[in-house]
Amino acid sequence: MEKFAVTGGNRLSGEVSISGAKNAAVAIIPAVVLSDGICRIENVPNIADVTLIASILEAMGADVKRLNKSTLQIDPSGIKTPVASYELVRHMRASYYLLGALLGKFHRAEVALPGGCDFGVRPIDQHLKGFAALGASHNVSNGMIRVKSEKLLGSHIYLDVVSVGATMNVMLAAAKAEGRTIIENAAKEPHIVDLANFLNSMGADIRGAGTDIIKIRGVSRLNGAAYSIIPDQIEAGTYMAAVAAAGGDVLIKNVITKHLESITAKLREMGVEVEEYDDAVRVRRTGELRHCNIITMPHPGFPTDMQPQMAAVLIKAKGTSIVKEGVWDNRFKYVDELRRMGAKISVNEKTAVIEGVDVLNASPLKSTDLRAGAAMIIAALSANGTSNIEDIQYIERGYEDVVEKFRSLGADIKRIHTTETNTQTA
Ligand code: EPU
Repeated sequence: MEKFAVTGGNRLSGEVSISGAKNAAVAIIPAVVLSDGICRIENVPNIADVTLIASILEAMGADVKRLNKSTLQIDPSGIKTPVASYELVRHMRASYYLLGALLGKFHRAEVALPGGCDFGVRPIDQHLKGFAALGASHNVSNGMIRVKSEKLLGSHIYLDVVSVGATMNVMLAAAKAEGRTIIENAAKEPHIVDLANFLNSMGADIRGAGTDIIKIRGVSRLNGAAYSIIPDQIEAGTYMAAVAAAGGDVLIKNVITKHLESITAKLREMGVEVEEYDDAVRVRRTGELRHCNIITMPHPGFPTDMQPQMAAVLIKAKGTSIVKEGVWDNRFKYVDELRRMGAKISVNEKTAVIEGVDVLNASPLKSTDLRAGAAMIIAALSANGTSNIEDIQYIERGYEDVVEKFRSLGADIKRIHTTETNTQTA
């Protein structure tokens, strides 16, 4: 089994460069299925989720070439089947984007029910409602979802909950539908805009992405394109939080500062200095951390995917902080791990009350999911002693070169191999 061994106490300093956005990449790569040409995608993060989605396309017949560490060239012309392999797909929540992309291409799709991180019920009713409005029926059996339609017709869709996945999936299915589709109450995350820009660069006609009304005029053909994915807002936020927790002075490069505004605002409230440049932020923490309250909301609210990392900073801030989770039902599973380090946190339903402590002590830790794993690294960096973090496969799903990047900032983190076997299933 592989673990990360993190010894706390080192301040962070130097520069770190942020990779492409995971949650954009996992939608943009399946979107290539819709293209009648070859696509070159740059600034692709080199993470397990991307390797998985690329290998799913390859298994379906696409020609996928890695031109360099961050560039993929994909020729989807060999994809002749609307069926995505169960064995690969079931491990990855974002494989549901294949439903929209294959439905758009073949008017039929068969994809395993989504897996991914577990923080409560993760329904896809809004995705299916969107497909139904375009004329597709669905059924679920033997762990597979099947959607099909004679033809896809543009329609007016109101999403009952703001859903990133449903918004992107309807965009994928509607890009080549006949006529105009309007999505109301659409999600506004930066990766929604990135997917729309990618589809438009292939010849789609999508307007309004980034607002809550998206208008899609279907086109009959999408061409190959060259496109560069936006920087990862959450990876950047994670390093910002790490500097806040460990102390130090770090320049975080290749970011879009606008996407970091809510994170920057909260860190400043906590007494952390954040200076914004064109495509970088400098984060400095020299004094004590102050408590603050956070409530997670769909964009432009505070991102739920930064909630565990910020809690890992607040556990050592002076005073009492309240963190409310406004998106997922159960995103506080990691709290037990932090408590074993000496953190004082009580959780009632979707609210955590954190009383800052002066000292955290190293402890064996588990990553209960991707962002919880990032929170474990952050907490361990500010604890006394060496914490071993298990289940690092969750962290590596979404963070490129996480050990190398933290080490380059002076953190004492290393990957260790042990002979124990890991009993937890993904
Ligand atoms: N929801 C429904 N019905 C649906 C879809 C969603 O009720 O059909 C509910 C969910 O249960 C949840 C809320 O709507 O309470 C928001 O879910 P959303 O669909 O927006 O989430 P997602 O698309 O499954 C993506 C990210 C998550 C991130 C959320 C919210 C990807 C691959 N995943 O998930 O990222 O937390 O949006 O921003 O884009 C992560 O990166 O760590 C991660 C979990």
